[in-house]
Amino acid sequence: MDSIFLQTINGQNNNYTPIWLMRQAGRYLPEYRKTREKAGSFLKLCKNPELATEVTLQPIRRFNLDASIMFSDILVVPEAMGMHLYFSEGEGPKFTNPITNTIDIDMLKPLEPEIDLGYVIEIIKNLKEELPKHIPLIGFSGSPWTLACYMLEGGSSKNYEKIKLWVYSNPHALHQLLDKVATSVADYLIAQIKAGVDTIMLFDSWGGVLSEDKFLEFSYQYLAKVLQRIKLVLPNHDIPSIIFTKGGGSWLEHLGNLECSALGIDWTINLAKARSQTNKVLQGNLDPVILSVADHSTIAKEVSRILDDYKRANNGSIKGHIFNLGHGILPTAKPDNVAFLIDTLHQLSQNS
Ligand code: CP3
Repeated sequence: MDSIFLQTINGQNNNYTPIWLMRQAGRYLPEYRKTREKAGSFLKLCKNPELATEVTLQPIRRFNLDASIMFSDILVVPEAMGMHLYFSEGEGPKFTNPITNTIDIDMLKPLEPEIDLGYVIEIIKNLKEELPKHIPLIGFSGSPWTLACYMLEGGSSKNYEKIKLWVYSNPHALHQLLDKVATSVADYLIAQIKAGVDTIMLFDSWGGVLSEDKFLEFSYQYLAKVLQRIKLVLPNHDIPSIIFTKGGGSWLEHLGNLECSALGIDWTINLAKARSQTNKVLQGNLDPVILSVADHSTIAKEVSRILDDYKRANNGSIKGHIFNLGHGILPTAKPDNVAFLIDTLHQLSQNS
């Protein structure tokens, strides 16, 4: 496939800096809100292959993006393992039966992705038919740690008190859970690769809430396990992988040891500093709030600063950098700002 995104993630020369945005299909787009309404709810949208394909394509039609990400959610994995998931407006995701003990862990069904998440496989197959030929498709999963956070907390959490009680007082049981989830996550990503995704990404959204030693023990180790299992089952696959630990800026030297192609970087770390700590391709790292609150000249200034920071630490070259936000786009982002960001990045990086 002839794609600037794939060239870049594979470490080849690129004429300009490619860009995609985490959560690029979402509530900031009026056409997304309309399709979600038609589906009935967010979860029904995720489970309707035709409409999920449509919302994946919406940002690709509207903007000059260099990659697409299949529309789904990380929490469909614990749901398919037997947990009851619902989303309520304003409250975010909730599980009605959070994990409370090792019996609950034993009851979790090991994932059979082609059967349990057949609707995701269908979305991937649809997208491979319908995406423009130069736009690669990114598949994804939550990291074992991040999924375990939701499975134990029962939803979003402020202080992670339930899972941290296990970190400090019941680590053996937590390892049991993480191990089971890691196997399911790997098998899910293997199924996505077989269905045709061009890149895989692991969202370790809550890895950053841990201390360094606990991060290595409870998150990093299982990211490594997922990647190893994929390699074991598909030894000859050449699908690049991205690991994004939000809040992982001070652990890049560890993350750089993972068998992955690229690391996602949130907006709190300077890309020059990140570049000096790892040889991996870097993906990031504009503060997503800018797309909601700033004017065009501020956006251009920030894009230019990020490009300059990266090149300063990379022998003056844009090679090895994929532009993205430092976290998911907000519902308040202005579509006009998104279009401006993408066009400005393409122009500024081409002329550099
Ligand atoms: O990037 C994309 O366009 C693909 C779609 C995607 C969604 N969720 C759609 C979504 C992806 C990659 C995710 C991943 C995801 N989901 C993560 C990891 C990335 C991150 O942001 O850290 C996490 C932690 C979740 C769990 C989740 N899903 C939360 C916390 C929420 C609620 C957020 C809120 O503001 O209400 C969701 C819902 C969700 N997932 C929405 C979308 C478009 C909004 C739901 C809606 O339309 O009402």
